[in-house]
Amino acid sequence: MKLTTLALGSALLLGAVATSQAADLAAGKAVWEKLNCASCHGADAVKSIDPSYPILAGQHADFLVHALRSYQRGASGAPASANVRKNAIMGAFAKQLSKQDIENVSAWLAAQPGPLAVRR
Ligand code: HEC
Repeated sequence: MKLTTLALGSALLLGAVATSQAADLAAGKAVWEKLNCASCHGADAVKSIDPSYPILAGQHADFLVHALRSYQRGASGAPASANVRKNAIMGAFAKQLSKQDIENVSAWLAAQPGPLAVRR
């Protein structure tokens, strides 16, 4: 009985995760397209217009979320620190993103194929 409940619970949970993730990724792609992030970072989020611009495809989503929120803090005047990035370009873009936009675009970028990898 307990096992059945557990199995059913896990199946429901997995279903919920799969559905919410699909919605987030589509919304994330929409954010990427709406603000034309590709104009600098490249259509594939790998080949940017300048080699000094970071590769975003395949980067950890939580890192991207942290970076974008740090640009937002920097744009609202906070002094630079580990959690505050001062960058005029990205500050201006990050300012236009809601918390949900940031979660979605980061999840979508993390799901794109890219050369970033963890050595195993
Ligand atoms: C006008 C060019 C330009 C546009 C458009 C642009 N970016 Fe950037 N982006 C940059 C530059 C330059 C940097 C590096 C800034 C720095 O040194 O902190 C950067 C950095 C980033 C980073 C930090 C990545 C890391 O590894 O530290 C993220 C995340 C990011 N951009 C996401 C986006 C998203 C999402 C959009 C669209 C909403 C966008 N960018 C639009 C130029 C651009």
